[in-house]
Amino acid sequence: MLEHSHDIDYGTPRRENEEEVTLDIDGMQVTVPKGTSLMRAAVDAGVQVPKLCATDSLEPFGSCRLCLVEIDGRRGYPASCTTPAEAGMKVRTQSPKLQELRKGMMELYISDHPLDCLTCAANGDCELQDMAGVTGLRNVRYGYDGANHLHAKKDESNPYFTYDPSKCIVCNRCVRACEETQGTFALTISGRGFDSRVSPGQDQPFMESECVSCGACVQACPTATLQEKSVIWLGQAEHSVITTCAYCGVGCGFKAEMKGNEVVRMVPWKDGKANEGHSCVKGRFAWGYATHKDRMVKPMIRKKITDPWQEVSWDEAVNYAASEFRRIQAKYGQDSIGGLVSSRCTNEEGYLVQKLVRAAFGNNNVDTCARVCHSPTGYGLKQTLGESAGTQTFKSVEKSDVIMVIGANPSDGHPVFASRMKRRLRAGAKLIVVDPRTIDLVKSPHIRAEHHLKLKPGTNVAVISAMAHVIVTEGLVDEAFVAERCEAKSFNEWREFVSRPENSPEAMEAVTGVPAADLRAAARLFATGHDGKKNGAIYYGLGVTEHSQGSTMVMGIANLAMATGNVGREGVGVNPLRGQNNVQGSCDMGSFPHELPGYRHVSDTTARSAFEAAWNVALRAEPGLRIPNMFDAAITGSFKGLYCEGEDVVQSDPNTQHVAEAMMAMECIVVQDLFLNETAKYAHVFLPGSSFLEKDGTFTNAERRISRVTKVMPPKAGYADWEVTQLLSNALGYPMNYRSAEEIMDEIAALTPTFKGVSYAKLAKLGSIQWPCNDEAPDGTPTMHIGEFVRGKGRFIITQYVPTDEKVTRMFPLILTTGRILSQYNVGAQTRRTENNQWHSEDRLEIHPSDAEDRGVEEGDWVGIKSRAGETVLRAIITDRVQPGVVYTTFHFPESGANVITTDNSDWATNCPEFKVTAVQVMKVMQPSAWQQEYSRFNRIQEGLLEARIEEAQ
Ligand code: SF4
Ligand code: SF4
Ligand code: SF4
Ligand code: FES
Repeated sequence: MLEHSHDIDYGTPRRENEEEVTLDIDGMQVTVPKGTSLMRAAVDAGVQVPKLCATDSLEPFGSCRLCLVEIDGRRGYPASCTTPAEAGMKVRTQSPKLQELRKGMMELYISDHPLDCLTCAANGDCELQDMAGVTGLRNVRYGYDGANHLHAKKDESNPYFTYDPSKCIVCNRCVRACEETQGTFALTISGRGFDSRVSPGQDQPFMESECVSCGACVQACPTATLQEKSVIWLGQAEHSVITTCAYCGVGCGFKAEMKGNEVVRMVPWKDGKANEGHSCVKGRFAWGYATHKDRMVKPMIRKKITDPWQEVSWDEAVNYAASEFRRIQAKYGQDSIGGLVSSRCTNEEGYLVQKLVRAAFGNNNVDTCARVCHSPTGYGLKQTLGESAGTQTFKSVEKSDVIMVIGANPSDGHPVFASRMKRRLRAGAKLIVVDPRTIDLVKSPHIRAEHHLKLKPGTNVAVISAMAHVIVTEGLVDEAFVAERCEAKSFNEWREFVSRPENSPEAMEAVTGVPAADLRAAARLFATGHDGKKNGAIYYGLGVTEHSQGSTMVMGIANLAMATGNVGREGVGVNPLRGQNNVQGSCDMGSFPHELPGYRHVSDTTARSAFEAAWNVALRAEPGLRIPNMFDAAITGSFKGLYCEGEDVVQSDPNTQHVAEAMMAMECIVVQDLFLNETAKYAHVFLPGSSFLEKDGTFTNAERRISRVTKVMPPKAGYADWEVTQLLSNALGYPMNYRSAEEIMDEIAALTPTFKGVSYAKLAKLGSIQWPCNDEAPDGTPTMHIGEFVRGKGRFIITQYVPTDEKVTRMFPLILTTGRILSQYNVGAQTRRTENNQWHSEDRLEIHPSDAEDRGVEEGDWVGIKSRAGETVLRAIITDRVQPGVVYTTFHFPESGANVITTDNSDWATNCPEFKVTAVQVMKVMQPSAWQQEYSRFNRIQEGLLEARIEEAQ
């Protein structure tokens, strides 16, 4: 179990200040940074001052008057939460008068509070109850006869928490949490004086308000007014375990609060460095999928996909899979099988799958879903900066002055980081958004993007080259940085290239659709900063990578950061917002066919020999097949068997019909997963997977931060995923004998220079570690490329804009682009099995009013979306979030068939699919597409075959 301090609430936030002050609190001397509240200083001195409206994640408010203190030489009784500590102060936190005042305040609160403590869900976890005890409240003189709120109606509209106004003490913590922590500003205190109460929006139920169900208000509430429904049902937890969210690349730390093997609630971990006590609706609330009735917990096999499934023992399933793989290799050759590992899995699992493929299959046919999202990041950053990873910590954004967000929608995709970024923006940093769509950040409460470059999808590289043109031709290059840190030759070539008139914003305007003056202004802002503050940081997402020029754009971003001197310190950098929880980790672990763990090419003899010696097997020096190559080879008949752990390629990869054809052509598909997903419908062996709650391991988030995943309940099917891979390897005749995930990490550390110093013991001590972690950086590396780039000198690379082959024509006049929504996650296998469906129960097509009008489409109409690859049908949302000529959809539901329309086009360097640009026609229709009808038919058959499964004899 991880070591973690019992969460102490210091009452007010930490203040950073080099100047310190020393004062006396209750006779004890304490020294604190200047600006620290008396309340926080008292905690440092070991004294807890009573409080209700203060908590250390929020700025003090000073409303409850419970934290009054006496200060020598001052009149009255100042509130310790709002009074800053001063040198030489003499403070008393206890006296008969203070006791009397506090008791009086408590009496007022309690006189308007239902005294149902014994049956209240917060019993045992209620600050009001605690304060009644602390202040020595013994009776309440006022009675309940006067006006009170005891019968105020509950709001139960949110599926995860209730709001019971009868218990509200109007401390404002929830309102401040929504503003300061989350940045949504959904709550207000409505009414005045006695009538004042918390209200979402305009006195609306929570579900009808702007609330995004992050739960920050619930966490901040000191009473049971805002309370998790799971706690209402299950009662208080009896122990807690630190673990990491299994959804997105932010990698929030959580305390899983448990009752035996049952999760009572997930509470964001205050000491989690990626999230510092905050979370989004998915991590905090959407964990019910782990115990959903759809979980498959028995291994199954079948000869053909038209047969019903047969439940078998683990031994039988694993031996069958192994014998099929060996049969296929004997018949079609060693290269006829391969393995895929999902970036949802742990590092240890990813490491083991690639080891299985390289050592037991005897080839390099291993790939991961990072192929379809951030492979260009790995390639582009390695080429320019020398390391395939982002350069900063998330916290670094707190020191940024200009933030450029390109092709990312953090509010939906990386919500906890978005909250952090929004805090910085509210504090004065300037924002540039480069995105075809008006994402939330462009205009949200108290935030306005300085520039929104609303480019045409597919023209990123033209925009970045034009920005570089402005910076170079207007003399805005940080010449000193470039001279000291970068290669002169490549810089000069790049400078000459971007200076060409054809790369100017004016020349590119027709291509990008971005007015030249806007682009110039944005480039100037990024290069020069504002008010003399110059830290420029770039954050980007799949809107950069999932293009035919994805790698070029990543290099263009790195060029821009180097040219403006924005690498190698806090507040700057190149920051890929990784999609899934462990995209960074699965890439680090050697899940690509050309790279061993730690990004060492399989042809690198030194690296390969080290693995050969440790694994006691000869390894192949040529890269294996990438995912799309595997599919192509399956269709042409040379690739016949696939081990697929945690990845649903049939739903997540482009050109679904092509993928399905490849699936049908294979002879043995082994799927290891939580649910019978779309890929499993084509499988011959199903091995039940384990959720993040059922296994030990680590995830590595977008900041390169390695965090522990901790088992809080036994695996439902008996094995953690790494154990299943081990069983398969042993059945194939390649022995693996790990007794724990920790032993796998020890092997990773022994064989991977950037992980050399990583161990579970160190993770327990430090909480998390950002790699590289080795002799030079034993506690990890928060900021990369300080003083020198990993590759030595930074390398500029020419970024020639090449339009995609995916052309808009009269037949396909619109461009479809795709993205995520906050409440659902990727293929939706998890979130669709939670109450998150209440926010988003189907994918819809966003279309601009003018395009809708041209086609006679009205809100909610069914529209056919036809591309060169296929056709599907969705309902329309008419909105000017998208520009004319562009339509947009999410892709969380298999029946939507978003990937039926996406094409085989891909990034020139990495084969990352061009998900973000598909030429389509949209028209009003009356029925599902032919593909959707076929999907329903196939789905019905497969569900029938599952239902008709022959159950294992007990
Ligand atoms: S759940 Fe989050 S967004 Fe909703 S009101 Fe509470 S703090 Fe605001
Ligand atoms: S709902 Fe809770 S946090 Fe909000 S004002 Fe009422 S008691 Fe305070
Ligand atoms: S932001 Fe990402 S990691 Fe954090 S709770 Fe939400 S989904 Fe989980
Ligand atoms: S805690 Fe200081 S006034 Fe409420």
